[in-house]
Amino acid sequence: MEASLLKKNQSVEITIEDLTHDGNGVGKIDGYPLFIPNTLPGEKVTAKIIKLNKNYGFARMENLEVVSAERVEPPCAVYSKCGGCSLQHLSYVGQLAFKRNQVEETMKRIGKLNVEVKETLGMENPWRYRNKSQVPVGFVNGKLTAGFYQKRSHEIIDMSTCLIQSEQGDFAVQKTREVLAKYGTEPYDEKTGKGNIRHIMTRFAHTTGQLMLVLVTTKDRLPFKEEIIRDLSEQLALTSIVQNINPQRTNVIFGDRTKTLWGKDIIEDTIHGIRFAISARSFYQVNPLQTEVLYQQAIEAAELTGEETVIDAYCGIGSISLCLAKKAKHVYGVEIVDQAIQDARANAELNNLSNTTFETGKAEEVIPTWYKAGIVADVLVVDPPRKGCDEKLLQTILAMKPKKVVYVSCNPGTLARDMKILSDGGYEANLVQPVDMFPMTTHIEAVTVLNLK
Ligand SMILES: C[S@@+](CC[C@H](N)C(=O)[O-])C[C@H]1O[C@@H](n2cnc3c(N)ncnc32)[C@H](O)[C@@H]1O
Repeated sequence: MEASLLKKNQSVEITIEDLTHDGNGVGKIDGYPLFIPNTLPGEKVTAKIIKLNKNYGFARMENLEVVSAERVEPPCAVYSKCGGCSLQHLSYVGQLAFKRNQVEETMKRIGKLNVEVKETLGMENPWRYRNKSQVPVGFVNGKLTAGFYQKRSHEIIDMSTCLIQSEQGDFAVQKTREVLAKYGTEPYDEKTGKGNIRHIMTRFAHTTGQLMLVLVTTKDRLPFKEEIIRDLSEQLALTSIVQNINPQRTNVIFGDRTKTLWGKDIIEDTIHGIRFAISARSFYQVNPLQTEVLYQQAIEAAELTGEETVIDAYCGIGSISLCLAKKAKHVYGVEIVDQAIQDARANAELNNLSNTTFETGKAEEVIPTWYKAGIVADVLVVDPPRKGCDEKLLQTILAMKPKKVVYVSCNPGTLARDMKILSDGGYEANLVQPVDMFPMTTHIEAVTVLNLK
């Protein structure tokens, strides 16, 4: 059907055929696709058209006529408003199948690859998995509130709990907001640029029980600082209270200056028996249980014997590098953020792993210089951001010819694109293993190994 035959605000009856990568249901009216949030494949709904583009439109569900067997009642009280989760209305089994299907479909469509995509490795309990919460603070109805943003907006939701956060972190956010309200701390107002407290961040290390609280403020001065610290340290089982100062009018959460107000500068956690010191600004995987599962996949795929030279591109604080260093001759890690490389070096020392070298820089620039200097990897690990590997890095890999490329990805689209380039260049992959790092959200993580033919 032509978009012109449909009208804005028109109600239509439609059967949902599929879920898009961002979790919206999609159905067609005479071939014209309509995207409808909060609907599931197999469901028949009445929906009101809210936007029509040339080739597709958007509608809002008004009535659910036929309900999918995979539909569940979302347990979160603010699910319909909050921009954090988007799959709570789909059973967890359904979420795992959705993620597997997304990877399989992307492998075929973008990679033109015929690889086996395994069942997604999910969590036994897919709730309260996040070790880090980063919650904006603002006034809602005249009350100091800490809650996530509403969908597609910067309006803060007044929420008392977040069911995907650790209980320890969640409780700390609520207590902190009470303490800040008690001392009349002024929340930052994005519109006027006035006010002081911007974000409350917590980090919980589940293997040690250590908890860090970070107060992100616009000003160095925090009125009633001593009282706030006293109350927080008495009411919460904290290891550390840190202040980060961000005076800029920006959406970026952290500013450049960080100072410890109470307790330690870092908290400590372990992954696969490796100790990690985590500072307020360190990148650290947010789902610790599934990080173990993800890294186990990477460790098994690497098949190390102790003789190998390994390169870990996009290494962050060296978490994969150090897990592999226990079983390799030498591991080289490269990462663009200098602070993360400093953390990686400190973590190597903390674990007495002297067979590691970490360098700050772009993977696509540093690895070619290593290659020129005679460093040739037997196993090369990449764990790039969503945009995938830089073309220059892929060309260096094809020239260097490591026996194995272990690819850890947070974006099936760029994974499929890069796998195609490596496959065309002489590598072969048989399997892709999705791992559910982010239950209740549409984010997908996957691991694969490409072997040199
Ligand atoms: C998905 S994270 C992986 C981190 C680490 N492997 C882990 O598991 O914790 C991707 C990392 O790539 C880094 N990064 C982004 N672009 C980069 C580039 N061009 N070269 C090197 N590192 C880069 C980011 O700072 C980030 O730490």
